[in-house]
Amino acid sequence: MKYPKIKTQLPGPKASRLINEDKSFVSPSYTRIYPLVVDKAKGVWVKDVDGNEFLDFTAGIAVCSTGHCHPRVVHAIKEQTDTLLHMAGTDFYYVPQISLAKKLATLFQDEIDNKVYFGSSGSEAVEAAFKLARCHTKRELNIAFFGSFHGRTMGALSLTASKTIQKKHYYPFVPGITHIPYGYCYRCPYNHGYPQCGAECAHWIEDTLFRTTMPPEEVAAIFVEPIQGEGGYIVPPPEFHRTLYNIAKKYGILLVADEVQSGMGRTGKMFAMEHFGVIPGIVTLAKGIASGLPLGATIARAEIMDWEAGSHSSTFGGNPVSCQAALTTIQLLEEGLMANAEVQGQRLLKGLQELQDVYECMGDVRGKGLMIGVEFVKDRKTKERATTWRDEIIKNAFQKGLLLLGCGENSIRFCPPLTVTSEEIDVCVSILDEAIKKVAG
Ligand SMILES: Cc1ncc(COP(=O)(O)O)c(C=O)c1O
Repeated sequence: MKYPKIKTQLPGPKASRLINEDKSFVSPSYTRIYPLVVDKAKGVWVKDVDGNEFLDFTAGIAVCSTGHCHPRVVHAIKEQTDTLLHMAGTDFYYVPQISLAKKLATLFQDEIDNKVYFGSSGSEAVEAAFKLARCHTKRELNIAFFGSFHGRTMGALSLTASKTIQKKHYYPFVPGITHIPYGYCYRCPYNHGYPQCGAECAHWIEDTLFRTTMPPEEVAAIFVEPIQGEGGYIVPPPEFHRTLYNIAKKYGILLVADEVQSGMGRTGKMFAMEHFGVIPGIVTLAKGIASGLPLGATIARAEIMDWEAGSHSSTFGGNPVSCQAALTTIQLLEEGLMANAEVQGQRLLKGLQELQDVYECMGDVRGKGLMIGVEFVKDRKTKERATTWRDEIIKNAFQKGLLLLGCGENSIRFCPPLTVTSEEIDVCVSILDEAIKKVAG
């Protein structure tokens, strides 16, 4: 079994020097919880500049879906770089953009025609969905959820309600957005219990919001993450999205699924919404779509994507190299990586649940496929958030060669490349065990 190899103190000498240099020249707005300076990476393994080797359960924030530098993705990129690097798909035509649009448009399990808009990031995909929803419905109001993360450009950030620091000093935002509680059963916003509640959190839109402050006929869209990502890897109750879908349909509102983090096979299905049996009007994608190259996509039913020429575009959106990387990524997902996400996700979930039997501080273990979160608490009864412990556990894991990322206030997310093997899952669980023992054993 392969284990991480840590040969120097962390950070090592080269890493320390580079981190100092970074401090002088790189924006201080970035959040680095531990000092990893990456040199190269392959599959699920990352080497730092001092030659230390780490097991990567972050995939560069759920991006390197096919593993770092998958040979087939690299080959597709190299071939494309010899042929065409850029030609502005907004003003001209080229094959990779057309081929990828065709592929993405037909990924849904229905016969309905879809169209695709391309950008270069998740924020841009959401921004496009936001504008498209207004443009198509000619309505101004929108609903989004507390805990949601939709990006950091001003439109997307207006929909985001994840952490105050992300919004501090940036007011005013785009008006007309109402945030409401997400379906978060572990900390039910209404203090109810599932299933007796009947997913009241979703019905609340019609039962309260539409009767008191929000005329439904003025609502353009409901923006929702199928599984909340940055907010804490929160899986809502099974009826949640179906209820949102039904409400949206009843009032001519668009349901926009932000699949930037949950999409592209990560949960064991191409789109996380498939777990809930819902096909939304608009879907946003980025992160894992191109295995590490920048690409965002907004997919909508053809009758919804009815904006006029000139309404919206981006110079770099649908870059041919990114499109080729995405086409190969989708092939790999369909050939077996999506199925692997399901199998290895089950194994990881079981491993984490076994640790939960040992450690009181593991309040909740949840997820689908390889999108799994663990929420750390000081006390299982009071559910007091153990944010400092969570941070310590992540730092301990790093010192032992396991790369993890936090999410929400007190959770750790597990989002490895979808190529991860059973052995690598077991190594992750055993290192995590040691990392938790040191803090809360
Ligand atoms: C659900 C979701 N939407 C949008 C974004 C924004 O994506 P980007 O950072 O590529 O702009 C993210 C990023 O974490 C995300 O998780």
